[in-house]
Amino acid sequence: MKDRLFIFDTTLRDGEQSPGASMTKEEKLRIARQLEKLGVDVIEAGFAAASPGDAGAIRAIAEAIQGSTICSLARANERDIHAAGGAIEPAKSGRIHTFIATSPIHMEKKLRMQPDQVLEAAVKSVKLALEYTDDVEFSAEDAVRSEMDFLVRVFDEVIKAGAKTINVPDTVGYSIPALWGERMKQLIERVPNSGKVIWSTHCHNDLGMAVANSLAAVMNGARQVECTINGLGERAGNASLEEIVMAVRTRRDVFNCDTRIDATQIVPSSKLVSTITGYPVQPNKAIVGANAFAHESGIHQDGVLKHRETYEIMRAEDVGWHANRLSLGKLSGRNAFKTKLAELGIVLASEEALNTAFARFKDLADKKREIFDEDLQALVSDEGYAAGHERFKLRSLKVCSETGEIPNAQLVFTDEGVEKQAGGTGSGPVDATFKALESVVNSGADLLLYSVNNITRGTDAQGEVTVRLALDGRVVNGQGADTDIVVASAKAYLHALNKLHSKRERAHPQV
Ligand code: KIV
Ligand code: ZN
Repeated sequence: MKDRLFIFDTTLRDGEQSPGASMTKEEKLRIARQLEKLGVDVIEAGFAAASPGDAGAIRAIAEAIQGSTICSLARANERDIHAAGGAIEPAKSGRIHTFIATSPIHMEKKLRMQPDQVLEAAVKSVKLALEYTDDVEFSAEDAVRSEMDFLVRVFDEVIKAGAKTINVPDTVGYSIPALWGERMKQLIERVPNSGKVIWSTHCHNDLGMAVANSLAAVMNGARQVECTINGLGERAGNASLEEIVMAVRTRRDVFNCDTRIDATQIVPSSKLVSTITGYPVQPNKAIVGANAFAHESGIHQDGVLKHRETYEIMRAEDVGWHANRLSLGKLSGRNAFKTKLAELGIVLASEEALNTAFARFKDLADKKREIFDEDLQALVSDEGYAAGHERFKLRSLKVCSETGEIPNAQLVFTDEGVEKQAGGTGSGPVDATFKALESVVNSGADLLLYSVNNITRGTDAQGEVTVRLALDGRVVNGQGADTDIVVASAKAYLHALNKLHSKRERAHPQV
């Protein structure tokens, strides 16, 4: 019997700390539903004390999710613990994850606290958190640069105080696998009562070793890995969930543990997170990159055709590639459409939103031979159907682009239901479209990112556009999808403007 390796997903917390990846409550809920389907053990849904919006999103996730534990992060102080406890209150299974830095540099320069004060705060906050839930996790921030004797002391005391999970973070991505494995081994050997808790690892990817370091910790006794979909996260990101899960599963001969992850949900989860955050997945990314299972050289193709395992150590379908063909067609009814959305974890705000999305689906089915799950995800993302009311909506767009001529765009859109017209020229059709919109809306926002990806294969595929806008310190992503990428661009721009204007949109947790 293999040990269970617990998967703690922090896409909605550490992942959200990636620049521009801040999400609305509805977007977080959609991702949380997908994470539940994927089978993650713990969803770190946010940092309740960061803002009322963050607390509200955690609470909404705690109300909606039954199959995973819902966790809120909290610094080791009373205010944060009370906020976290309140936010996870509706959860069937809720956890508070409290942390404080233990390295000399953090204690002295950032916290301006003596080691004894840090120890006291850690113990006090674990005890306070236990008043809300018996599932309390403690993290020693910057454990990688902490002194071993002090770490042992802190962990000993927080275990005595009642922490059930002890997390050892490489906050700055500084370690290397041999040292990180050794650190985990020593901690488990030296901390009294270490057998009573789950040991966890949380690695950042600054030197590209987050996954390798996490796996080294697992080989030395860690039984929880904190990770994110697509490796999203602060700076260079966190350990990527898909790589951890598939490494452990593919190398059963090496790892004496396994997860309860449904690997066929890995690719859909990756695509959803990429769509919502606007962070594209690089084509050569392990497991979830578009080329992860593509064989280009003749020798490789020949080998795979003769015997697949000559060059493949995993099967694409086992991680969710190709498992996403939609069984709905042009003639499918509204109920079948609604059922499929529910299967994908998409809950629309109203009947009106469902009708609009259904009309869009029919329209798309007319233009596109095959419709995939990703097409549906994009369809609900780009106009914010899931979120309900949107201020700006695109009605129509006409673009003229001809060799040697200046591109020109004419748009009709609604602003709170009132029809507006806009026209403009630019260096290309997309530039002309954005300039036309700005000439009427005058948002003053800065365009930080514009990117286009095809959602599925083929020239009839929908193009998915992400637009990142910044205004007064707030950064938002807008998405738009259409078989016409200029239309997709206009939708993405309007979606981002809607978020900038929406009171629902939360401030970035770091702001
Ligand atoms: O990187 C880190 O140390 C963290 C902690 C809050 C666990 O994210
Ligand atoms: Zn982190």
